Amino acid sequence: MTEPDTSFETVRHAILERKTEKALCDIERPLEAKSQSALAQELLELAHWAPFHKPAHETHRQTDLNSVVPWRMYVLEAQDCRKLLSTFKEWSKDDPSWLEGKIPNLLASADLLFQVTWLPNPKQTENQNAFEGTKDNMEHIAAAASAVQNMLIGATAKGLPNYWASGGLLLRPEIFKLLGISQEEMVLGSIFIFPKHLGNKEQVKIVPGSWREKRGPIEKKKKKLDIV
Ligand SMILES: Cc1cc2nc3c(=O)[nH]c(=O)nc-3n(C[C@H](O)[C@H](O)[C@H](O)COP(=O)(O)O)c2cc1C
Repeated sequence: MTEPDTSFETVRHAILERKTEKALCDIERPLEAKSQSALAQELLELAHWAPFHKPAHETHRQTDLNSVVPWRMYVLEAQDCRKLLSTFKEWSKDDPSWLEGKIPNLLASADLLFQVTWLPNPKQTENQNAFEGTKDNMEHIAAAASAVQNMLIGATAKGLPNYWASGGLLLRPEIFKLLGISQEEMVLGSIFIFPKHLGNKEQVKIVPGSWREKRGPIEKKKKKLDIV
């Protein structure tokens, strides 16, 4: 029994250690950009093995990215994040909103950014919503979310601060175009992985998740059933 308990403790430790850490860096003093392609591959392997149930619709499988899993990941390494920040600075000369919010600060510090999309089934009806509230779509989102969580747990186990952002500026159509992402895909989140030892960097401020301490007790979200 020792072996399974040890595995459980290892996984439990990583899950309980995971936390939102937004590493907000002064955009005029970005961190050095080191290549992290091996790390990206390691985290992508964890995503790859996440559960999924319904295959991506065939309309999402017409390019080289033709996996049956209902999500895609667009990987930006540190140097790409810094270049994207430079692009934002350039665009801000005409439209200052490109430097609003936290995304520019995160691009100044991230080692990796995974722009994660999930793949909605084509609409069967004419409605105003971006995607239909079907069971298949629910399962696509759930599968994509479990892939993301695998990566966050893996990054945490490696001691790397990480952050799941909704996207902010990265949800704009200009960014879909720049990154070559189809408008048929829905961004589930922008996953930032940061270098270790950020506490030593005076230009970086770490901000926790606003809901971190507000989960409430386990008892408030589960009910023990006694079937008679
Ligand atoms: C789908 C999703 C989207 C999120 N988007 C944002 C975001 O846009 N901005 C933000 O500050 N935090 C975002 N978060 C992080 C949550 O705020 C954070 O998980 C929560 O406060 C709990 O903190 P913890 O991750 O440290 O447990 C997001 C988390 C999830 C799961």
